[in-house]
Amino acid sequence: MRALHWQRKIYLDGFAGKIPAIPANSIQLEQAAVRKMTPEATAYILGGAGNEQTVVDNRQGFEHWQIVPRMLRNVENPDLRIELLGQQLPSPLLLAPIGVLEMAHPLADLAVARAAVTTGVPYIFSNQASVSMEACSAVMGEQMRLFQLYWSRSRDLVTSFVNRAEACGCRAIVLTLDTTMLGWRTQDLALGHLPFLHGKGLAQYTSDPVFQQLLDDFLQQPPTARPSVTATTLRHLIGAVRRYPTGSFLKNLRSGRAMGAISLFSGIYSNPALTWVDLAFLREQTSLPILLKGILHPDDARKAVDYGMNGVIVSTHGGRQVDGSISAIEALPGVVAAVNGQLPILLDSGIRGGADVIKALALGAKAVCLGRPYVYGLALGGQEGVETVIRNLLADLELTLGLSGYKSLAELNPDCLRPV
Ligand code: FNR
Repeated sequence: MRALHWQRKIYLDGFAGKIPAIPANSIQLEQAAVRKMTPEATAYILGGAGNEQTVVDNRQGFEHWQIVPRMLRNVENPDLRIELLGQQLPSPLLLAPIGVLEMAHPLADLAVARAAVTTGVPYIFSNQASVSMEACSAVMGEQMRLFQLYWSRSRDLVTSFVNRAEACGCRAIVLTLDTTMLGWRTQDLALGHLPFLHGKGLAQYTSDPVFQQLLDDFLQQPPTARPSVTATTLRHLIGAVRRYPTGSFLKNLRSGRAMGAISLFSGIYSNPALTWVDLAFLREQTSLPILLKGILHPDDARKAVDYGMNGVIVSTHGGRQVDGSISAIEALPGVVAAVNGQLPILLDSGIRGGADVIKALALGAKAVCLGRPYVYGLALGGQEGVETVIRNLLADLELTLGLSGYKSLAELNPDCLRPV
């Protein structure tokens, strides 16, 4: 839908007394979602690492650049189309991989997958999804999807995830590099709450044949340390067993399968020993393009080229991993210079409005990924909430592009901006 139609619809609805349920302003959107979500969901979704300075800097970094609008240049119907990985896309927007969406809404990834279809925006499935990639793909038809991989300690599991991603029509593997360990997430720590321990965000694992085989082996071993048994432990245990997707509650409780899956996941999901050399293994497993997510240093960007990768995503993981790290938008020019046009560069972390997208593209990104805002839309209104957040952002982008004097994204370059 073109920006002016969407804008007019909102005003006409308002004229008829219908005020939007999903705020157009990103700060108000976040505040509305916080009012709706549980304290645990709020901590997990909003929270960053440490003192959350990088969460702040991801936003402030955009303020170091200003658009200098141009006039009288015929900007009717600005063109938002781009080409990425050989695909024509209607806009430079993708949905970032976000885990444990069941904390925001019961339909979780499925609602997002459907919203991706109705808005024509590609969706990067999370390795920590609440709904399996097969179930999401089944509602997406031809709509572009990608799979985000966390490289676990089991290479067989890595291979299995990648094979499944290929089989269900994903167009690329997004390998997230910045989470070889979980960051020091102070809001989650304050509540002593980690969703995975409650069996949330494990759908890609519990639906995987290799993981199930690993679980069979794991359950043969003597159990390791268990938390002390209190009424709360029992309540959480029952919740986790209920969440296990297959088999009866009693069978899963008695066999220890549900809790075993959580323990096994905790032991293998990440692999801090990974190095650049390991990428050759992934390359052998798939013919899909591989994008590296979490690149911030120009030297790493150059290595991505040297190691035959197909793209990079400049990202701080939304400030959730290294507190005090450079913000994504400030890292972008260095990465762009290092890559020198040899790979497409995407950016996430702090995209909250059309102007942010314009600044990222003017500085050399090909596309951007939207993160937390669509989760706020999901929390507030399920599929429709996600659709509204996406439509708002695209309308804002189209209008801001045209009002800045550009008829297409291809016209953007660093001279469109002024450093502050
Ligand atoms: C994430 N992100 C993330 N990244 C990833 O590669 N795999 C994942 O499973 C997740 N999960 C996840 C959960 C939550 C609650 C958040 C907020 C983020 C990071 C995500 O893809 C993206 O990099 C950030 O969300 C970008 O920052 P902003 O713009 O959302 O602040």
